Amino acid sequence: MPRFFVDPDISVAKTIDTDFYTNAQVFEQCREKIFATSWQFIGSDELVKEAGEVYPFTLLPDYLDEPLLLTRDKTGELNLMSNVCTHRGNIVAEKACKQANLKCRYHGRLFNLDGKFASMPEFKEVKHFPSKDDDLSKLSLFKWSRWLFTSVNPIYDPGLFFKDMMERVGWMPLGDFKFHPELCRTFHVKANWALYCENYLEGFHIPFVHAGLNAVIDFGEYATELYFPYSSLQLGLSKTSKDCFDLPIDSPDYGKNVAAYYFWVFPNMMFNFYPWGLSVNVVEPVSVGECQVRFLSYVWDENKLDKGAGAGLDKVEQEDEEIVENVQRGIRSRFYKHGRYSVTREQGTHHFHRILAEFINK
Ligand code: FES
Ligand SMILES: [Fe+2]
Repeated sequence: MPRFFVDPDISVAKTIDTDFYTNAQVFEQCREKIFATSWQFIGSDELVKEAGEVYPFTLLPDYLDEPLLLTRDKTGELNLMSNVCTHRGNIVAEKACKQANLKCRYHGRLFNLDGKFASMPEFKEVKHFPSKDDDLSKLSLFKWSRWLFTSVNPIYDPGLFFKDMMERVGWMPLGDFKFHPELCRTFHVKANWALYCENYLEGFHIPFVHAGLNAVIDFGEYATELYFPYSSLQLGLSKTSKDCFDLPIDSPDYGKNVAAYYFWVFPNMMFNFYPWGLSVNVVEPVSVGECQVRFLSYVWDENKLDKGAGAGLDKVEQEDEEIVENVQRGIRSRFYKHGRYSVTREQGTHHFHRILAEFINK
């Protein structure tokens, strides 16, 4: 297994070894070392609005591939559990619906909406039954305003990933942000998931790759803030005050023309706040050279949609996709192993590579 080293001093550091994006063994290792231990995006609490609603889903299909079930029980509480029947392993809930309990259709085992075992036919003679093991396994649920996250191996405190973002934009009426499925998109990208993320983490390419966005963003003022340990922020400042946030006086950004907050949370989530609301981008690994990127929109002010830095997101995505796919072809070359970083423009990418090395070497 290759080991990775990225010097903490950006001025002498080399970019992470290309094995990270091309080696199938490394890709396999990322599954448990990076994706199982970090916090993954589920969606907003609108997935189960009323008591009795159940929402089955697969966490990172074909990668973590974990069948899970989100429910809102009778008391209105949210529950997140394994969607695998504790009898012989059938999938319990097959589609989103509203019901009083959960019934496995293989042999009729019944569970309460909080995952507790309720009853089972033909099990009278079974000794030491039921026990705690017959309840559906519960998962950790981290909730930030309306948004839900889970970790299948929660060894890290979610605060290490989300705290700085939560503080910085906590003044927004996040509870009023509404999911708009018609604005959502999924993109298939022929590149390793990490290449997609590291491209996001530098604004260096904006003047070269995104002419439209460059007309709005003041590249000279574009600043990266590294939140240690596991997130960062790029502050998109505008050339004018048009289509910017109306910031409250206690915001640390008060007085600036903020067109966008681009938060990245390790390993694969981007939270782009615009005056119209939030675009969440989730990068999902598919294979060592492929990923899928989901864009999910949560709207705060419909009148501001498609204005300023938050306009034309599909075009910006296509421009990113094209360049990242080129890079995936480039890093397969025998003649390229490492590059170097711009000290002023690539701190976010350097920070990301450092975290990748930290997690994968464990
Ligand atoms: S697998 Fe669910 S009742 Fe048998
Ligand atoms: Fe880009």
